[in-house]
Formats: sequence, C-alpha cells, structure tokens
Amino acid sequence: MFDLARLTDSGLVARIDYHESLSSTSDRALTLGAEGATELPLLVLAEQQTAGRGRGSNRWFAAPGALTFSLVLEAPADRLPLRRWPQVALAAGVAVADALRSFSPAADLSLKWPNDVFLSGRKVCGILSESVPGWRDRLVVGIGVNVNNREQSLDDKESSSKTAKPIALIDHDGLERDLTKVLLEILDQFDRRWQELLHNQFIPIAAAYRERCLLTGKTVRLSQTAGNELVGVCQGIDDTGTLLLRTERGTQPIVSGTILGWDDSAR
Ligand code: BTN
Repeated sequence: MFDLARLTDSGLVARIDYHESLSSTSDRALTLGAEGATELPLLVLAEQQTAGRGRGSNRWFAAPGALTFSLVLEAPADRLPLRRWPQVALAAGVAVADALRSFSPAADLSLKWPNDVFLSGRKVCGILSESVPGWRDRLVVGIGVNVNNREQSLDDKESSSKTAKPIALIDHDGLERDLTKVLLEILDQFDRRWQELLHNQFIPIAAAYRERCLLTGKTVRLSQTAGNELVGVCQGIDDTGTLLLRTERGTQPIVSGTILGWDDSAR
C-alpha cells in the first residue's frame, strides 16, 4: 500500500488519483487531463496496472511490486514549446536513474535512448510521454519501474534480443524497497528536472544524460518514422537532446526513431 498522506504532504504533486487496480495510469491521466483537471501536476497512481501501454504498440506488463504511475503536467508554450517536448522524456529518464541510484549507489544504471533506464545492461524502467488530446499545453508522462517484482517476462517488442529480459531493482541486491519512498524520490528528482526544463536549462540535463548514455560509442541500428533504417556509431546527445549518429554519410542528427539493436564494436 502506498502512503498517500506522505505523498500529499510532500507537495510534489497537487492532486493524487489513486487506484488499487487500473488498466493504464496513462489512459486515466490522458482522460483526466483532457477533461480539464485543474490541479496540476496530477499524479495517477495504481497499486496494480492490468493493461499498461508502452511505446508504439508495445504493452507494459507490471507484476505486483512494480511501480506504475503517470503525471499530468502543464507545459506553457512560452516556457516549454512543443518542439522541446522530447526533452521531457529524456529528463524523466535522468530523474529515474538518479532516484534509483540513491537507493542502490553501486548499481550500474544507464539510459538507452531515448528514455529507457537500464540496470546492469537490462531494462528496469520504461517511460511514455504523450500529449493530451485537445490541449496544446498539457502532457502525460507515464513511468513504469520494476522495483520489487523479481525477474519477469515483459512483452517489450522494442528490446533487442540481447536485452529482452528485463530486470527489477530487487534482482540487483535482493532488497525489497518501500514503493512510496521510491516514488517520492523519483517525483523529487523529476520536479528538479522539470523546473530546469521550464527555465530553458536543458544543458545540465543533457550533461547528466551523456554520463549515463548506454549507446555512446556503440554501433547502433535505428529505424525512423519514414521506415528507413540507419546504422552508425552513437555519439551521445547534443545540448538540445538530439541523438548524434556517425554514419557513412557523416554525423546525422536524430530527433525520433526506434533503436533496433546495437553492438559494442564501434567503427
Ligand atoms: C516503454 O518502455 O515502452 C514505455 C513503458 C511505459 C509504461 C508506463 S507504466 C505507467 C504508465 N501507464 C501505462 O500504460 N504506461 C506507462
């Protein structure tokens, strides 16, 4: 059970919409956001999520012990214009990695572009950032973290075969965590990064991301929306959050795409 009083008292969210069981916290958050919820940031929290969604058509399976929540956020166009929204998911990845590190300082935490958090080379957290239909200044950030749910099989088609098996924090050191504390730490770290975003300060976020970028120096295969595939050596992200891929045609800036796989042998 979550300690809702503690979450409320933290002041990190304006309202909590709590459910023992919910199909998808992001679906619920999108509905509340579209209906005009006024107390933002709004946290939609589920003890158990039964039909979580991932990027694209992927599903997100969360066994008991996983942390699943979504935030409805207000992004005023003069402070965080639409073109910078991809930075939100990158910032959320940094926030989760920093939060998990505070619980497990020795853990090998990294970020797989754009916003998967990896632990010991396996996915521990997925993040889904979506705009609220009908609103130009609202978005929903959905976060799923494997905390106390031991190794399980996520149906994550985005993962390469090498990383298909996800991992939970508990697999790393056998310690069961208080989910309220983990959530509070993530919300705190995210709030810090959110303030940076609203003050147009992406550079510290980009620097933190680069320190943890799993793909830097690796040969990456990526598919883009137009359906074409690109292969190149990852150069990390630049100060705006764009992925840089060194290909045979020079360095290509990548704003969106799906990583299909990677290997360690840089060309
Ligand atoms: C991905 O890795 O593809 C993103 C996964 C995002 C999962 C979270 S769990 C909480 C929120 N609710 C959802 O339905 N999805 C997100």
